[in-house]
Amino acid sequence: MKVLAQKTTLAQQNRQTMVVFITQNKDKKPIVPKIDQDLDTLVNSTIQNKDFGAESKETLFFRNCLLAGAKHVLIVGLGKSSEVSSESLRIAAATAYNQLKVQKVTEASLYLENLTKVIKDTSAISQALTEGLLLSEYEFSELKSQNSKKKDDKKQLEEVTLLASGSAQLNSVKKGLDIGYIIADCTNFSRRLGDSPGNFMTPTTLANETIKKAKGTGLKVTAWDKARIKKEKMGGLLGVSLGSSQEPRFIIMEYKGAAASKKPVVFVGKGLTFDSGGISIKPAQNMDEMKYDMCGGANVIGAMLAIAKLKLKVNAIGLVPASENMPGPAANKPGDVLMARNGKSFEVLNTDAEGRLILADALCYASEQKPAAIFDAATLTGAILVALGNTHTGVFTRDKNLMGKIQKSADAAGELVWPMPLTDHHVEDIRGTHADWSNIGNSRLAGSSTAAAFLEQFVEDGIPWAHFDIAGTAWNVANRLPYCPKKGASGAIVRTFIELAKTF
Ligand code: BES
Ligand code: ZN
Ligand code: ZN
Repeated sequence: MKVLAQKTTLAQQNRQTMVVFITQNKDKKPIVPKIDQDLDTLVNSTIQNKDFGAESKETLFFRNCLLAGAKHVLIVGLGKSSEVSSESLRIAAATAYNQLKVQKVTEASLYLENLTKVIKDTSAISQALTEGLLLSEYEFSELKSQNSKKKDDKKQLEEVTLLASGSAQLNSVKKGLDIGYIIADCTNFSRRLGDSPGNFMTPTTLANETIKKAKGTGLKVTAWDKARIKKEKMGGLLGVSLGSSQEPRFIIMEYKGAAASKKPVVFVGKGLTFDSGGISIKPAQNMDEMKYDMCGGANVIGAMLAIAKLKLKVNAIGLVPASENMPGPAANKPGDVLMARNGKSFEVLNTDAEGRLILADALCYASEQKPAAIFDAATLTGAILVALGNTHTGVFTRDKNLMGKIQKSADAAGELVWPMPLTDHHVEDIRGTHADWSNIGNSRLAGSSTAAAFLEQFVEDGIPWAHFDIAGTAWNVANRLPYCPKKGASGAIVRTFIELAKTF
């Protein structure tokens, strides 16, 4: 699907489908924009009949109505004017996309003029709409044979035009469109990495795909192989990989958008391409979902690609330790002791708590970069699903200032985060018996917090750091976000990380 921008006078056009977004006033009454008298009459009559109330996700489709210079008209509700945000526009664009697909429409034009009265920044409007459309278009079907794809798939939404009302507006619409395109494209790339099954997405393919996608972006990508990982004393990453026939990789992405003297911001992502649990093997039910255990890594890769393509004025580094967790003959056994890059040892009391082991080495390496801040994203614990479900990403940091920054960035990105506890009590819970640390808490309670406390041991003192547990938000979130696939990777936290990068 192409998304275009155009300066237009409505009546002159001979369009296939016009999409109009309608907001509500403070009494929740729909505000019908004055576009076309006959269309106004038609919409008002549906409102009077209580067929349409302009609630979010509500739609009305008029086929062959020949109004507002178009054959068909789609009306989409946006909720209260005072509550319209980039995120509600993303959701409205997704609602429109899904409805246009149901109606088998191939071209659509989006009317923006009434929206520019609600949100002053026109480029923010077109960015959010573009993101909503392109994120909705994402589908992971590359492993299906041609025959099994639906026959009517041929009739697709091919072109969407964002209608600007003047030259100045056209420039802003175009600017937002370009930004939205980059963000959606990079997020969809992350999703594709996440949705690819373990036999296709191994640590080696993850590294190779990253190198391929980064070509021409100004990102420098390096991938360390097993021998190098061993030489670099990354005992956690190496140890976790031993049960698998697949070699681990340590992926390093470097972007220089600011003066060399400026400290970099470092993003770290868990790239566990399949988590069977290892010797502490997981139950069979839903084990397939553990192909998503590299979404932290995939989403850091997507964020880094976007940061580079948007040419943000920041120095940023992305780090992805990548491995499988399998119960092969050389696998870690419960009780085995490994040593991280910073010399601290840990006993592996449960081989299924492997994410923190590969992140330990990555956080040591991140600390060595003398960064302005470190942010890590990981599908780290099942416990975060119990605590927060699939709505909020849990954020762990002791730095209140940083938490404020994160909350602001997440708000701007339209993603939900929630501050979680990380205290000395949790640190006490992970002290080891025959090594410095244990990879699981003694009490087995507050599992997400003890996991965060473990990670903290590998971040150098004084470096602002926050851990994002995305185990609940990284996939299957379409029940609340219509621009995400029904079953599949969401790209959670990509947009928040891009926003965070802008603050350094
Ligand atoms: N990858 C899992 C966490 C996970 C679970 C992500 C469910 C998404 C959905 C992680 O490696 C893991 O297995 N963690 C264990 C830790 C426990 C053994 C202390 C868990 O959460 O059960
Ligand atoms: Zn695990
Ligand atoms: Zn895992």
